Amino acid sequence: MNLQANPPGQGAQLEEAFRLFLQASQDLEEQQKVLQNQVDRLSNDLAIANQRLAALLGALPAGVLLIEEGVVRDLNPAARALLPDLVEGIPWQIPTAWSATPVQGEYQTSCDSTGRTVQLKEVTIGDRKILQIQDITESLAQHAETQRQSKLASMGQMAASIAHQLRTPLATATLYAGHLADPLLPQERQGEMADKLRRQLTSLEKLTTRMLQFVRQRPQRAESVLINELLDEAEQAIAPQCERYGVPLNVSLQGEPSLVTVERDAIVSALVAVLENALQISPKGSVIQMQTTIEASRVRIQIDDQGPGIEDSMLNSMFEPFTTSRVNGTGLGLSIARNAIEAHRGEISATNRPEGGARFTLTLPCLPAL
Ligand SMILES: Nc1ncnc2c1ncn2[C@@H]1O[C@H](COP(=O)(O)OP(=O)(O)OP(=O)(O)O)[C@@H](O)[C@H]1O
Ligand SMILES: [Mg+2]
Repeated sequence: MNLQANPPGQGAQLEEAFRLFLQASQDLEEQQKVLQNQVDRLSNDLAIANQRLAALLGALPAGVLLIEEGVVRDLNPAARALLPDLVEGIPWQIPTAWSATPVQGEYQTSCDSTGRTVQLKEVTIGDRKILQIQDITESLAQHAETQRQSKLASMGQMAASIAHQLRTPLATATLYAGHLADPLLPQERQGEMADKLRRQLTSLEKLTTRMLQFVRQRPQRAESVLINELLDEAEQAIAPQCERYGVPLNVSLQGEPSLVTVERDAIVSALVAVLENALQISPKGSVIQMQTTIEASRVRIQIDDQGPGIEDSMLNSMFEPFTTSRVNGTGLGLSIARNAIEAHRGEISATNRPEGGARFTLTLPCLPAL
């Protein structure tokens, strides 16, 4: 075997290389330790965050479901309580025992007295869907109770106003009826009396019809209606009056086609009541604007007139029943409109525009038309 000695200096180089190699390995080891520590710390933080999230989801009164590709992947305790038969891994669908209510996204969990009303909201993130199920039975009951209380309070005030409102036309009608029954009333005055009596009774009938409209409860026959259909209907209903008053109505609509779940007639009547008021006060030749904007989940209808604006004394009370500044007004138009809008979870308000004239704003919840 021919063992050749390393050339001089090569041994030192090898030693140096070996030393550097050792140094690099130690550095790598150090870095690996630092990285491992970071991974441990992050894993720990993640575990804590997960625990917090689980605690939050556990404490949340609303049910939360995670749906991936249509399959239930996870659900919190509140969701398990609302849906006892639901387990992870099965495809998600609305339970067959649930029935849809007239309000979009709301369901009755069963038709007996144990039934709850739940509201379903969903958020889609890529292939995933997060469903939030909220039991709104109590808040609906509270809402109904508040409405009932405020209605009762209004009814008290109304009772006094009704008596006042009915007394004069009733007394007049009784007087005409008395004249009619008089055998000495000349033949030619009988027709005149009968006509006066009929007019008094007609106005009494109008008053009682409006009072009944005012005390009506929640929407009875709600249906999904395209917003532009509602606007068209209101426009058509008011068109003959626009012609008579010589005040045109400009209608505009901005936003994606959307649906509202409403009792159609009630909402059209509310729009017509606001438009009617605007017409009655607008100078001939002026214009009424009805501008509608659809944003996210709400539709806003703005009705502007070029009249003298709302009297200061009326600004705070005009939505209360029997509040009127018009000689022949019943003062029920706006209070009926407000009832109808609020019964659909909407809002109505009025203000004077800086440039003159009144602005009425009605908002309602809506959904995009698919
Ligand atoms: N566009 C408007 N501009 C100025 N004032 C208004 C306008 N709309 C309503 N008002 C005021 O609000 C009051 C109440 O209106 P509301 O429609 O409730 O009753 P009304 O019009 O007086 O009677 P009716 O029962 O016949 O509708 C009106 O009398 C008027 O004073
Ligand atoms: Mg009116």
